[in-house]
Amino acid sequence: MIDRVQALREEAGGAIAAAGSVEALEELRVRYLGRKAELPQMLRAVAELAPEQRGAVGKAANEARRALEEQIQARAGELAGEELQARLQADRVDVTLPGAPPQPIGRLHVLTSTRRELEDVFLGLGFTVMEGPEVETVHYNFDALNHSPTHPARARTDTFYVVAENPTRPAASPQSELVLRTHTSPMQVRAMEAHPPPLYVVIPGRVYRPDSDATHTPQFHQIEGLAVDEDITLGDLKGTLLVFAREMFGEEREVRLRPHFFPFTEPSVEVDVSCFHCSGRGFLADGSRCYLCKGEGWLEVLGAGEVDPNVYEYVPTTPANAPGYDPEKVQGFAFGMGVERIAMLKHGIPDLRLCFENDLRFLEQF
Ligand code: PHE
Repeated sequence: MIDRVQALREEAGGAIAAAGSVEALEELRVRYLGRKAELPQMLRAVAELAPEQRGAVGKAANEARRALEEQIQARAGELAGEELQARLQADRVDVTLPGAPPQPIGRLHVLTSTRRELEDVFLGLGFTVMEGPEVETVHYNFDALNHSPTHPARARTDTFYVVAENPTRPAASPQSELVLRTHTSPMQVRAMEAHPPPLYVVIPGRVYRPDSDATHTPQFHQIEGLAVDEDITLGDLKGTLLVFAREMFGEEREVRLRPHFFPFTEPSVEVDVSCFHCSGRGFLADGSRCYLCKGEGWLEVLGAGEVDPNVYEYVPTTPANAPGYDPEKVQGFAFGMGVERIAMLKHGIPDLRLCFENDLRFLEQF
């Protein structure tokens, strides 16, 4: 009988050590130590043994039972620890996941997304993006852009002049007078000063004019384009703007150039895109006049032209390593458009001021 006790103890001990879960361990406890199990039955039968056997068998069986109980308890502790670890692994909270319900993360302002869309169109055509100062000198804003000394845009009613810190001290020279730039065009000469030809750049940014009504705000945005290379013609300008018109307003669009005047382009044009609301017809399916183009079939979107050779003369040729834009060698085109105007047309925004009031009911529509 003592041999049987030893055999049971070893068998059960091995099984307990190998138990893989708390449930498996409980099954082993029932199998080896439960009421109907062999070892407890042997313990109960000790009383019926011959007196000389009782002591030894009883002792061995009791020890076996206690040992197995301890082993089960120890293994249960181990398993509980392992299972806790496994559960912690499985339940680990990923704090990088969005909360539930997901919180609103905001959106780009319609003018930002429009500016980025425009940049993407011209990046796709091989232009690079530059930026420039909003406080600009009269030199870059007007003089270097071939404005006559009496050009009306220079008037204090049309341009914000920046007053020096000490207004009694006169500007060092009339050229160093400062303005809030009235357009992004001053970057034309700045870009040429910084880079030799060929040059293909677009310049988005804020501009300022003392105007205020439903379609004008004192601060607004433009994106300037400048391409200077050899053999650049008005045809290149038209092709470039056709790509722009189709990417922004749809595959079917056409562009139209109308003669115009800007001091720094020659010839100068205003550029229209065929109306995307009435497909250029000027009227809608029900015969009514198209409200977007007012029946014209065309929408005016920007000003442009061939860079006036006089402008190249403002790009310094000294020192000797200066880029040098020889009007006999290079030609170029330039264009400038209002980001707000593009966004208003594209999204049917009726009043420009909505773009700057920060009313979420408006902003959340884009
Ligand atoms: N700067 C002009 C404006 O603000 C637009 C323009 C840019 C025209 C480049 C021609 C060439 O009206």
